[in-house]
Amino acid sequence: MSKILSINGKAYTVSVQDNMPLLWVLRDIIGLTGTKFGCGVSECGACSVLVDGRLLKSCGIPISSVFGKEVFTIEGTSENLEYLRKAWHAGNVPQCGFCQAGQLIAATSLLDKNENPTDKDINDFMSGNICRCGTYTRIRKAIHTAVALKNEAK
Ligand code: FES
Repeated sequence: MSKILSINGKAYTVSVQDNMPLLWVLRDIIGLTGTKFGCGVSECGACSVLVDGRLLKSCGIPISSVFGKEVFTIEGTSENLEYLRKAWHAGNVPQCGFCQAGQLIAATSLLDKNENPTDKDINDFMSGNICRCGTYTRIRKAIHTAVALKNEAK
């Protein structure tokens, strides 16, 4: 049976099994491949998305649980994500880049909840997102840069 899925403010009609993970639907059915498959067992954070503003790992969520909710992925736009994108670019954050979409979504979720996070806030909040290249210091700095860019623009 077809159902409507709302992603980044756009409606998609999908016809999939209820237990298919959201990540599969995003990548293989809809073609939004910015969200990455890393571990597949809700451990690494490469597949991070927001569902009704809540940070979740899309590899572990059955599609049936997100019908009627708003899914936000790295292909979306929001004020905090745009400042973070600029800061990521300015700080040359990625190394291999594989985890970075998930890192940006997690950082967006952090700034949505906390306008001026401390280093500890960042470390605690971002701890579910693993970077195999160890870019954590640059990620932390870029989050502070995004806050500064946002404050400058006020
Ligand atoms: Fe989902 Fe690793 S791919 S947490």
